[in-house]
Amino acid sequence: MLKLKSKVTDEVNFFQGVDPYELIEKYGSPLYVYNERILRERCREIKNLVSYPNFSVNYSAKANSNLAFLEIVHDEGLSVDAMSPGEIYVELKAGFKPEQIFYISNNVSEEEMKFAIEHNVLISVDSLSQLEQYGKINPGGKVAARFNGGVGAGHHEKVVTAGKKTKFAINPEYIPEFKEILKKYNLKFVGLNQHIGSLFMEGDKYIEGVKAILEIARQFDDLEFIDFGGGFGIPYKKFENEPRLDIKDLGEKLSAVLKDFAEEYGKQLTFKVEPGRYISAECGLLLGTVHAVKYNGPNKFAGTDIGFNVIARPVMYDSHHDIEVYRKSDIKSKKDEAVTVVGNICESGDIIAKDRILPDIKEGDLLGILDAGAYGHVMSSNYNNRLRPAEVFIRENGDVVLTRERDTLEDITKKYISLQ
Ligand code: LLP
Repeated sequence: MLKLKSKVTDEVNFFQGVDPYELIEKYGSPLYVYNERILRERCREIKNLVSYPNFSVNYSAKANSNLAFLEIVHDEGLSVDAMSPGEIYVELKAGFKPEQIFYISNNVSEEEMKFAIEHNVLISVDSLSQLEQYGKINPGGKVAARFNGGVGAGHHEKVVTAGKKTKFAINPEYIPEFKEILKKYNLKFVGLNQHIGSLFMEGDKYIEGVKAILEIARQFDDLEFIDFGGGFGIPYKKFENEPRLDIKDLGEKLSAVLKDFAEEYGKQLTFKVEPGRYISAECGLLLGTVHAVKYNGPNKFAGTDIGFNVIARPVMYDSHHDIEVYRKSDIKSKKDEAVTVVGNICESGDIIAKDRILPDIKEGDLLGILDAGAYGHVMSSNYNNRLRPAEVFIRENGDVVLTRERDTLEDITKKYISLQ
């Protein structure tokens, strides 16, 4: 196999000697591939973020909730957040105890709240309406709430989750009403949380957000924890040497703020962070096959099986993913050139990368879409009645294990009810 462009995976020894073509032959194309060693490294890095002792990392499972993935995160000693009963369900299956799961709900039904309560999972509510609903269902219970500290950040307006323009969290001006409802239902308010948004590359915005939520925390006595949310970014433009988030600097600044606050609050309360992408993005890539190459005027298109049903991020947020190129034959590519990499979905917008400079791509080449471990498979769909890909892990010893089967045609039609 010829690696026409593989700097990133070579540097981190992503494949550990495994041949991408053999993976595709065995598990089908496209295919999500995860590296266990890199996942474990990321978990450990974040666990050591701060020196403050009562610190816990809740992996944000929405980024990747594959069962085996969660089992590894659990084995590394992290806790998790959940966004739905479905995530709670798979997290329990992965071995997390109810007290390691934090359900950060948003506009949920009574049934969904009851599901969490019955499974002894703590809920964070994010509106007065939802606090009322919780109080009615579980008077005298423990509850947490998501507040909006007013500081938002993120790579796209769709993922900024604090500030004036967002549906999330409670504006602190409603704290008096919030306290009334707590009293009315005799609820014990144990913790507050926030999430400023997804993907910051400079730690200062996060620290600003932390200070804002601590300001809100001062208005409550006897909290058990404060959760600052996720959003820790990763460099998607690795071929351009985009710098990494300075996690050491962020950790030091965070440690200082937490220590001061705990002293002032008079209690060693627990502080939590909730990274999803930082833990999961870089341990995953998406392999796909080039089935057609064509020119339309001056534009070259590489037609692949990586449609936006398989990876939604480029179409949904104009997100950039670096692309590597592998070839089975030993025919070298003469030159690098601009190519638009597209999928096989029946929409013109089905574009993974526009005018990307890549080696001269040919039919049969494999592409590796990098940093696809976060918000990749979890956001895939069966649009056009296509099959969602399998997921495999390259284990630390180099063994490859299947952790999710590829859909079958039966899978995608089994819920239909015929009129015949
Ligand atoms: N906590 C809460 C309450 C969240 O809503 C999120 C993400 C996280 C933590 C984790 O954020 P992270 O550390 O992964 O940035 N699909 C988008 C990202 C959506 C994020 C939604 N909430 C993307 O592909 O960029």
